[in-house]
Amino acid sequence: MSETDLMVRLRGVSKGFGAGSSRIEVLRDLDLEARRGELLAVVGPSGVGKSTLLHLIGLLERPDAGKIELDGLDAGTAGPEERARLRNRLIGFVFQFHYLLTELDVLENVALPLRIAGKSAREARIRAGRLLEEVGLAGRADAFPDQLSGGEQQRIAVARALAMKPPLLLADEPTGNLDRPNAEHLFSLIRELHLLEGLTSIIVTHNEKIAARCDRVFRLAAAAEHRTDV
Ligand SMILES: Nc1ncnc2c1ncn2[C@@H]1O[C@H](COP(=O)(O)OP(=O)(O)OP(=O)(O)O)[C@@H](O)[C@H]1O
Ligand SMILES: [Mg+2]
Repeated sequence: MSETDLMVRLRGVSKGFGAGSSRIEVLRDLDLEARRGELLAVVGPSGVGKSTLLHLIGLLERPDAGKIELDGLDAGTAGPEERARLRNRLIGFVFQFHYLLTELDVLENVALPLRIAGKSAREARIRAGRLLEEVGLAGRADAFPDQLSGGEQQRIAVARALAMKPPLLLADEPTGNLDRPNAEHLFSLIRELHLLEGLTSIIVTHNEKIAARCDRVFRLAAAAEHRTDV
């Protein structure tokens, strides 16, 4: 496989927290790759470091050691501003909790990243409207987030994550707060958008059924153990 086929490439990544006797090593010498267009599930027991891993890939945190390349670029040598630019250009995030702004309506929430990026109000509304259609919520554009169900709120969070057309979608237990039918519905939507928008997607999940519907499953084991790439 040529390296240009890789959207995400981690080599020898280690990350721990704290100092002295309270120090914990979470990730040790971790290698991980995601090919362009791949839909990758990350699974593992609670506390093993799945969110930490996603935060490192998403450039929200820096590793203690090792290399992180996104889209062929070495994120480790980039300064804070360059990292922020890379994040804005490359990455859409979805979390377990939607973090929608309750004082903005649905359309404004989805349009917000575009407005922050300096797009015109008109352009932002058009892109946001199209995304609301794609997530099946065009009819709720004027609603406020607390008027929506949990599943609908997460669909809006997915739309917002894709507003800037990032090539890489990172989702940390996006279905973790949903009941089974809504979890499967949200995952189906993510998979559709993954194909439609030509994304590379990394989804942390505890749901084995969802993991099995991804292209590949990466099982994260405790730092003391060996990791297996299944
Ligand atoms: N900022 C931090 N400071 C100190 N410890 C942290 C920090 N972030 C994570 N940890 C610790 O690192 C370990 C891994 O946490 P992480 O949130 O990555 O696990 P996880 O696999 O996502 O778990 P879960 O499935 O419960 O979400 C945990 O022991 C956690 O307490
Ligand atoms: Mg987590």
